[in-house]
Amino acid sequence: MSVFKDGFLWGGATAANQCEGAWNADGKGISVADICTGGKFGQSKTITPVLQEGTFYPSHEAIHHYERFKEDIKLFAEMGFKTYRFSIAWTRIFPNGDESEPNEAGLRHYDEVIDECLKYGIEPLITISHYEVPFGLTKKCNSWVSREMIDYFMNYCEAIFQRYKGKVKYWLTFNEINSSVAPMGALLNQGILNDLEHPTEFMNQPDIPQQRYQGLHHMFLASAKAVKRAHEIDPDYKVGSMMIYSCSYPLTCNPDDVLANQEYNRIQNYFCSDVQCKGAYPAYMNRFFRENNIVIEKQPGDDEILKEGTVDFLTFSYYMSSCQSADPNAESGEGNILGGVPNPYLETSDWGWQIDPKGLRYGLNDLYDRYGLPLMVVENGLGAKDTIEEDGSINDDYRIDYLRRHIEQMKEAVKDGVDLIGYTPWGCIDLVSASTGEYAKRYGFIYVRRYDDGTGDFARLKKKSFYWYQKVIETNGEEL
Ligand code: BG6
Repeated sequence: MSVFKDGFLWGGATAANQCEGAWNADGKGISVADICTGGKFGQSKTITPVLQEGTFYPSHEAIHHYERFKEDIKLFAEMGFKTYRFSIAWTRIFPNGDESEPNEAGLRHYDEVIDECLKYGIEPLITISHYEVPFGLTKKCNSWVSREMIDYFMNYCEAIFQRYKGKVKYWLTFNEINSSVAPMGALLNQGILNDLEHPTEFMNQPDIPQQRYQGLHHMFLASAKAVKRAHEIDPDYKVGSMMIYSCSYPLTCNPDDVLANQEYNRIQNYFCSDVQCKGAYPAYMNRFFRENNIVIEKQPGDDEILKEGTVDFLTFSYYMSSCQSADPNAESGEGNILGGVPNPYLETSDWGWQIDPKGLRYGLNDLYDRYGLPLMVVENGLGAKDTIEEDGSINDDYRIDYLRRHIEQMKEAVKDGVDLIGYTPWGCIDLVSASTGEYAKRYGFIYVRRYDDGTGDFARLKKKSFYWYQKVIETNGEEL
């Protein structure tokens, strides 16, 4: 008998701005992802509020998933996917973000995507906002800094909740909501941009923490209202929170490092999920806000909204872990938005992310102990360079090894008693990297022949991991 429950949701995950392309087709508006140029490891992407002629914007074509979704979903079905996590591009439904009526062509597109999934018995798992806020709303009101955003977001939710009723069960409000406790989340997650004229380095955005935290308050309210509204529209809807689980250890057993780690965990890891899962701001944030001169403007009734809109389940991305040190001179490592000090016991990916399968078991237990909600790992994977051999094969044993070791630890967590309901590795088909804007950082089971110099024919090729994952799903995780 398998350790994973019957009906375990094996699948894969993508985001519209990283795979669809067709950035201005069928009435789609510009999102914040569409104004970011390509970059690479060690060289930041650039945010260009005014699009520059002749500049390479990877989201504009991405991997042509918009046109080729049928072919891609067929390949997912061939692997045996039970679920496909994808995002709806907000700008396909409300191109500028503030229209009163949705764009029918956009709604129709996702009807087709959802129907294609259902044709193969694949459960759609939809992220409502995955790093693709309408740029029109950035220009209009600096996006989530403004409370008006709650209404724009609710219009969008209303349109998609009504339209896909009866076909979709699982929704996630915001991708990696806690990315906004780091400066990089300001534009990526929240659409905040203070200079609308000059290009800015994505990795070095001028930071105003007050804006990020006020923005988060508005996102918490929007998410809570969306949960409530979803349940009114369809009592079968399940709405989840999605966070980065940035597993963190004290660098040493020095009590100062232990306290530094506790502080990190509270702010980076737990703050947002505490609000979304428990329905209230945690007490520890008061001191943090006070000491960082952050004042959250709340309106009467906000606390009730948060209380009434707690999520049904919790999901997270997990790629790596890091350490915390109280020493201000400690070396800082690379990381998935939320960084830390490198751990001397762990190996590192080509992009400097530290590989730690046991951290996933730790995280699953940690989050289940804290919230007692069903959990899903909705992103996990190894960004790596792949090579096509002369015979056309792509032997990504390093990816298989990474995933195998993580699934083994998921099994341990299930044996520990965690209610784990699904697993959707990131970038199940190669796509554009969110942090660096590269194609070279590949996560997929399916290779896409598209390159950072703008060449490539977008053909899809099955990697060795494609067949490996197919077996994993077929045996419900028994054959790794
Ligand atoms: C998560 C995001 O942060 O990590 C994805 O939700 C992203 O959008 C993924 O692509 C991997 O990060 P990167 O920078 O390697 O693409």
